[in-house]
Amino acid sequence: MKVNNINFNKDNLGEIVTLNGWVSKKRDLGGLVFIDLRDRSGIIQLVIKPESQAYKLALELKNEYVIKVEGEISLREHANNNLKTGDIEVIVSNIEVLNEAKELPFDLNKVTALEDTRLKYRYLDLRRDELKEKIIMKHLIMQSTREYLNKNDFLEIETPILCKSTPEGARDYLVPSRVNKGSFYALPQSPQLFKQILMMSGFEKYYQIARCFRDEDLRADRQPEFTQIDLEMSFVSENDIMDLTEGLLANIFKNTKNLEIKRPFIRMTYKEAMDTYGSDKPDTRFELKINDITEGFKNTDFTVFKDVISNKGIINCLVVKNKAETYSRKDIDKLTELVKIYKANALSFLKYNGQFTGSIAKFIDDNTSKYLKEKLNLEDNDLILIVAGDYKIVKTSLGALRLKLGKDLDLISNDKFNFLWITDFPMFEYSEEEQRYISCHHPFTHPKDINNIEDKENALARAYDIVLNGYEIGGGSIRIHRPEIQEKVLKALGFSKQEAYDKFGFLLEALTLGAPPHGGLALGLERLTMIICGTDNIRDVIAFPKTASASCLMTDAPNKVSTKQLDELHIHLK
Ligand code: AMO
Repeated sequence: MKVNNINFNKDNLGEIVTLNGWVSKKRDLGGLVFIDLRDRSGIIQLVIKPESQAYKLALELKNEYVIKVEGEISLREHANNNLKTGDIEVIVSNIEVLNEAKELPFDLNKVTALEDTRLKYRYLDLRRDELKEKIIMKHLIMQSTREYLNKNDFLEIETPILCKSTPEGARDYLVPSRVNKGSFYALPQSPQLFKQILMMSGFEKYYQIARCFRDEDLRADRQPEFTQIDLEMSFVSENDIMDLTEGLLANIFKNTKNLEIKRPFIRMTYKEAMDTYGSDKPDTRFELKINDITEGFKNTDFTVFKDVISNKGIINCLVVKNKAETYSRKDIDKLTELVKIYKANALSFLKYNGQFTGSIAKFIDDNTSKYLKEKLNLEDNDLILIVAGDYKIVKTSLGALRLKLGKDLDLISNDKFNFLWITDFPMFEYSEEEQRYISCHHPFTHPKDINNIEDKENALARAYDIVLNGYEIGGGSIRIHRPEIQEKVLKALGFSKQEAYDKFGFLLEALTLGAPPHGGLALGLERLTMIICGTDNIRDVIAFPKTASASCLMTDAPNKVSTKQLDELHIHLK
């Protein structure tokens, strides 16, 4: 079996070794030929002297040729501290070319190619350390996960890929059944129902590193197929699941980054997160909190704010310390464009310098002025950015503005890992698209108070998310384990009894046949890996990712299929 390049060091001096790998770089110094030989583990320097029988062949080698060499490990005259094998080199006596390589579509040592080209030749891109390290990191995270959960008595159990549709809120990927004419499987959006059923089977502690498929609009942190560290436990409370998850993440960070993470993680209710950060996944690596200043304008003459208050709206602001002079009107216009994306009508601003100037300065009377100074602890040169309107619009637009300012003003320290639990999520949310209330988490989530689920605006769920540096890296809940509660929740979601049984009859029946109380959570493996690797592109942590239009540029999936295949599946294309 091949030995990794980087396993060789000064202890091996004088040994005759056989090495395999790729020619990463060749330097011909008109006498000596130097080759950086690369394998998965790293680089080792080869030296081919003119007197070596391998010299002639060495001159012909090109980048990315696959070679096998034999030689003697010797001490390097000038050590290279950037290489793990920097103390040594191999004086080559023999070279065998195992395969040649044509000129590559892009230079692996200096990548300037567009991402599309790199995705088409993904196997070449994966040869680069930068990507390879991330794939290896994902492997380590998976191994640490298994290590921790096995130690904690969990069983790894697989669940089907060809399933019935599960309601996680995205569109399903469908697979036609050849045998059952006109019927379709759905690929799982998550193993949610199966893991609950496993609790009803008595397995008590389940996990799976599970592939999930969701046909949804893609973003920098979303892929149509992704992986969850999925777990479920019986006879547990929220605290048990949170504690276990914190332990799991601590183990992952210890094994991958040799970092002790501080536990227990901070907990914040959904309401507090929205109020303070305008987001249910706040990036708490920096402050810049949202302030509610509605009270200060209750007697205002400014009709816009007056109308907002009389329509039960709110007036909120961000205080950007010591930046009043830095931000020009033009800069603020740009910020206005951002809040408008979130449906805010306008971004008002004030600059403080003992007194107020700015777009709404003429409406700041003595009382409001006193209120603002005290409430916001204003100091000279503070900039106040204000949005007024409906709660949701004000919070989300200022939340987005907060993130932009955090980045623009360099307020975020990249070496921090800020974990946070968000609890007490709403049970329901109104879907404009479907014109009805849908589950905020999923329909199997236990309500906080079973007696108020008809109050759809205010009902809360026993659901929690885990947030890391502004990313939702996971979510879960305590599930409903009593059939009458499940039926009540499905009814509140607008399912008739018949529809509920058609869709989830197997679950509803299992709930009547001895179902334990249970709950769980799933972590997004890619998002976690992204953060650990310090990248904001999810494609970097997936060996063969899809583009934003959900295609694979290397294999050209999805593609057209033959009429014969379609006929077999009883499918006629429109
Ligand atoms: P949820 O839908 O919140 O919960 O998903 C759990 C976590 O999976 C990650 N994630 C994604 N990652 C990449 N691409 C995507 N398209 C994508 N969608 C989700 C996120 C998210 O927090 N069955 C429940 C879990 C449970 O209740 O136990 C579920 O799937 O990091």
